[in-house]
Amino acid sequence: MTTAKKTGGLAGVTAGATALCTVGKEGAGLTYRGYDIYDLSDNASFEEVAYLLLHGALPNRQELDGYIAKLKSLRDLPAALRQVLEMIPAGAHPMDVLRTGVSFLGNIEPEGGFSNQQDTADRLLACLPSMLLYWHRFHTDGVRIDTETDDDSVAGHFLHMLHDKAPSELHRKCLDTTLILYAEHEFNASTFAGRVITGTLSDMHSAVTGAIGALRGPLHGGANEAAMELIQKFSTPEEAMKGVMGMLERKELIMGFGHRVYTTSDPRNSVNKKMSKMLAEEAGDMTLYDVSEAVESVMWNEKKLFANADFFAASVYHFMGIPTYLFTPIFVCSRITGWAAHVMEQRANNKLIRPAADYIGPGLQKFVPIDER
Ligand code: COA
Repeated sequence: MTTAKKTGGLAGVTAGATALCTVGKEGAGLTYRGYDIYDLSDNASFEEVAYLLLHGALPNRQELDGYIAKLKSLRDLPAALRQVLEMIPAGAHPMDVLRTGVSFLGNIEPEGGFSNQQDTADRLLACLPSMLLYWHRFHTDGVRIDTETDDDSVAGHFLHMLHDKAPSELHRKCLDTTLILYAEHEFNASTFAGRVITGTLSDMHSAVTGAIGALRGPLHGGANEAAMELIQKFSTPEEAMKGVMGMLERKELIMGFGHRVYTTSDPRNSVNKKMSKMLAEEAGDMTLYDVSEAVESVMWNEKKLFANADFFAASVYHFMGIPTYLFTPIFVCSRITGWAAHVMEQRANNKLIRPAADYIGPGLQKFVPIDER
């Protein structure tokens, strides 16, 4: 039997089967349902990828048009949910807002049986950006935004609600690409949490609520916000190199680096890095990009640690005028596709997920009644 000592954090343990994704598989790399991530990020839209994950195959033109129309029709928020969002304090973290929002939606629009799982997934995909931006704009600008915009894409819809105007094609495309890169990643912590919840035959809202809770932490999705806070501390590459060297000497973690599965690079990083450079050039200020590159080179030279998907995603979002505290919630707006696909896959061949633990507590104790202790 495999013991916990050898498998701390389940590293290297195969905990189930999936047809959705390969992560760092020899000869395949990162694929979604057999499609290479670079083919998808270069040529597909996020809606095509969402359809691929949730429906099992890439859509044809007619299917995609129908899917986009369906998602657009599901963006509006029920009045009761808007009320709840208004009651959540302005100082809350938006990951907590989404966690509450999804949970509340599960009360007013319950899944009502597994035969509705596809529609539940589409509803969540369509309305998560609305939930997030409704709360954000209400508390930062004091406005109750219309969550139904004309934009066809999730990325366009997101940026439109955030900035009150349709985005440039460059910004829309860059956000769309990060949504593709974040959509799915096999048995990562939040997906696995969602599958554990699903394994008890619970509902999709519960699985997604739990997954949001898992994604929130800085060792997982929260790393993109922490990476932004790090690079903003430095005003020159030299300062960054010195600062990061000091952090490494103090054994501090540098967020946005390292990975449980990848050993030499994260395939998503090169795409994010290219976009970060492009957006820095557009902004006419290379400082953040140069600082990021300096951090990247110190991490590789000193520790052979590489930037993961979260590191350059941080500056990509920053250059589009997205506030840092919305970075991890964007991850949710994308990963909902992977989570929901895993919920459906788990249900299709369900077995309760209940591992064993090595007991390390005291031996059998003699019970002493309370008044004799
Ligand atoms: N900064 C500094 N050191 C790091 C590091 C980082 N980002 N990531 C790993 N290390 C070091 C660890 O301290 C450890 O050193 P040690 O052997 O001297 O104790 C060694 O590398 C192995 O790391 P470990 O934490 O055991 O690997 P893991 O597989 O358990 O963790 C992560 C993987 C992703 C949790 C880890 O790399 C990390 O914390 N990264 C930062 C958070 C992050 O970016 N998360 C997003 C992941 S997509």
